[in-house]
Amino acid sequence: MNFPTWMSGIQQRTESALEAALPAPGLAPARLHEAMRYAVLGGGKRVRPLLCHAAGSIFGADSRVLDAAAIAVELIHAYSLVHDDLPCMDDDVLRRGKPTCHVQFDEATALLVGDALQTQAFQTLSNRLEGIAATRQLDMLHLLAVASGSRGMAGGQAIDLAAVGQQLAISELEFMHIHKTGALIRAAVLLGAHCGEAQPDALERLGRFANRIGLLFQVVDDILDAEASTATLGKTAGKDAAQNKPTYVNILGVSEAKNMASKLRQDAHEVLAPFGESAVRLHELADFIVERTF
Ligand code: IPE
Ligand code: IPE
Ligand code: MG
Ligand code: MG
Ligand code: MG
Repeated sequence: MNFPTWMSGIQQRTESALEAALPAPGLAPARLHEAMRYAVLGGGKRVRPLLCHAAGSIFGADSRVLDAAAIAVELIHAYSLVHDDLPCMDDDVLRRGKPTCHVQFDEATALLVGDALQTQAFQTLSNRLEGIAATRQLDMLHLLAVASGSRGMAGGQAIDLAAVGQQLAISELEFMHIHKTGALIRAAVLLGAHCGEAQPDALERLGRFANRIGLLFQVVDDILDAEASTATLGKTAGKDAAQNKPTYVNILGVSEAKNMASKLRQDAHEVLAPFGESAVRLHELADFIVERTF
C-alpha cells in the first residue's frame, strides 16, 4: 500500500473513532456537545493519530487498540487548539478553514469544550483495551497526562505566552517548542508503541525519534506561518510576526530555519534505521511533516 492510501485509511478510521467517542449531538447539554464535535470532527491532518498507528505497526499492535490511543492524543490536541485560539492566547478567528470555536459559539463554551475534550481523552484511554495489561495501560495514562500538563503541552503554552516580545536564545526556543508541540507528538509515538507491547530499548529509541520530529513539526509550523497563505493553511497566516512571537524564523531567518528542519529530518531517519522496513510509515511521516503545505 502506498503512503497516501495508508494515510487516508488511518484518517478515515480516526474520524469514525472520534465520531463514536464524542457525545451524540443532541445529548444534553446539547450546545456543549455540538461545540465539542465542531472542534474535533471534519478537519485537521490527524498527524498524531497517524504517528500512533505508524509506531504501533512496528510491533504488530491491534488497530482497534491503536484507535483508542490515537484519538486520546487527538482529543488533547483539539482541546489545545481551541484554547490556543482564545482571545487571551493567540486570539485567532480561523482554524481548520472554519471560524474558531469561540467565534462560532462563545468564549465560555470554548473554554468548557477544552475542559471536556481533555477529560474525554482520559475517559477514552481508560476504557478496557483488549490484550493490553492493566499495568501497561496505567503507564499509557501516565504518559499522556505528563505530556499534556505543566511539564508538557500546557507548560509549553505558558512559555510561549511569556515569551511574546522577548528575544529568546536558541536553547530557550527549543525548550518551548519541545514542550508546546513536541510533548504530544512524542506521546502519540510512544502510546502507539505501548499498544504493541514495545520493550524499553525500542521505546527509548522511538522517544529519541519523536523528540526530533516534535521539534521539527513546530519549526515547519513556524515556517508555514511566515510563508504560506491563510487560504492554504486554513488558519491566519503571518500571526507569529504580527504578535511578536519568538520562532526559529524570526530568530534565524527562513533559510536557516529550513536548514534546521532538514537536519532534524535526517537525524530522525537515522534514529529509525535499526527498525528497518518495519518503520516505513514513520519514515514517510517524517518526510510528510517537512513537505506538508498546511
Ligand atoms: C497545529 O497543529 C498546532 C501545532 C501544534 C503546531 P497541526 O498542524 O497538527 O493542526 P491540525 O490538527 O492539522 O489542524
Ligand atoms: C500551538 O502553536 C501549539 C499548541 C496548540 C499546543 P501555534 O500557536 O503556533 O499553533 P497555530 O499556528 O495557532 O496552529
Ligand atoms: Mg500559540
Ligand atoms: Mg496559535
Ligand atoms: Mg503556529
